[in-house]
Amino acid sequence: MRTQVGIVGAGPAGLTLARLLEVAGIESVVIENRDRDYVERRIRAGVLEQGTVELLREAGVAERLDREGIVHHGIHLQFDGERHHVPLSELADGRSITIYGQTEVVKALIAARLASGLPLLFEVDGVSVHDLDTERPRIRFAHEGAQLELECDAIAGCDGFHGVCRPSIPSGVLRSFEREYPFGWLGILAQVAPSIDELVYAHHESGFALLSLRSPELSRYYVQCRPDEDIGEWSDERIWEELQLRTGLAGWTLDEGPILEKGVTGMRSFVAEPMRYGRLYLAGDAAHIVPPTGAKGLNLAVSDVRILAEALVAWYSTGSTTGLDGYSDACLRRIWRAEHFSWWMTSMLHKLGDDPFDAQLQLSQLRYVTSSYAAARSLAENYVGLTTL
Ligand code: FAD
Ligand code: DHB
Repeated sequence: MRTQVGIVGAGPAGLTLARLLEVAGIESVVIENRDRDYVERRIRAGVLEQGTVELLREAGVAERLDREGIVHHGIHLQFDGERHHVPLSELADGRSITIYGQTEVVKALIAARLASGLPLLFEVDGVSVHDLDTERPRIRFAHEGAQLELECDAIAGCDGFHGVCRPSIPSGVLRSFEREYPFGWLGILAQVAPSIDELVYAHHESGFALLSLRSPELSRYYVQCRPDEDIGEWSDERIWEELQLRTGLAGWTLDEGPILEKGVTGMRSFVAEPMRYGRLYLAGDAAHIVPPTGAKGLNLAVSDVRILAEALVAWYSTGSTTGLDGYSDACLRRIWRAEHFSWWMTSMLHKLGDDPFDAQLQLSQLRYVTSSYAAARSLAENYVGLTTL
């Protein structure tokens, strides 16, 4: 088998790249080790930056997003028993965010790929990548009982943090930067109308909580927990109790409903540089991870593949490698900004331990962000996505 671009991983990065290449008339094959149902049901991010929405629209996969996505112009920060509104759009030159589940983005991309009759292979096994520093890199894998080899011009490693592409780069090439946090998030999807019109990020002495949503009937809520938390210790009653405690305000209560899904996510910051080795280009979680507090993971994955697609299009149309040579640096500028913002939001909002000095610094920072125009604007422009990087 032969293609122009071999794409490993059918998450947001791989599927979006495949779509952008299709629009530009470049062939690709996408291979994914899980089944379609699993990929479409994996509940993860829910906040799309305006730039992400615009890109999906240009790629012709935003029809349902435009109908069902919920545009938000602000968020709330809650601490010390008070809820403060941060008017994102007012602060960030009219830009906004759209609440729309990653699951729905992925479903639209898969449907578009299959409707175009282009190769997207689920449930592949034993993926390995070879000859990365030659002009004919190869992907080997098994599919439906057959052992296959795909010869490519370039390979996009879009296989997430635990994928095979990054570890296939010879040792000594990559430099990695990492930070682990001593907490995680327990997330639930609940069948109840959201009790709030905009997201609430709550700092509380019992731990952080976040109120988000997926639709007028579905709420998505999170509470800070231990990174290795045993979900079995969290009955539905205990989850609601913690959410009520951490987000409750005089005169306002959180409406409860049946919990449809719950899970624990660990938190880490991670960057591997450069995002390229020979003809292998890493994109999305395969190259970097942010803690979810800044809502950046999915948006960064999309921004990486936008840059990669443009570079590949330039290479195929003019032979110029300038874009491909600059790919890693161009992505990393935005990635490190998002790494800082996500670390900062995480450090400001979570219970870090029992040190009263830390707690006072956090409160001071929260008061500053909710009272100073300059500080609020800085949060807002990062949250909606910087346009200057
Ligand atoms: P992924 O979505 O991880 O996609 C990689 C794909 O590659 C997967 O489909 C995987 O099955 C496939 N794959 C892996 N190995 C192989 C292989 N060997 N061969 C073939 N295919 C392979 N971000 C937020 O902003 N907010 C959130 O609330 C949030 N919650 C999250 C919860 C969890 C549990 C996780 C893991 C991430 C969360 N994120 C969140 C981050 C966000 O979802 C990711 O940044 C985003 O999914 C990155 O997209 P991606 O395509 O780079 O990687
Ligand atoms: C959601 C996830 C986030 O990480 C975040 O910062 C805001 C919202 C969500 O799943 O809706």
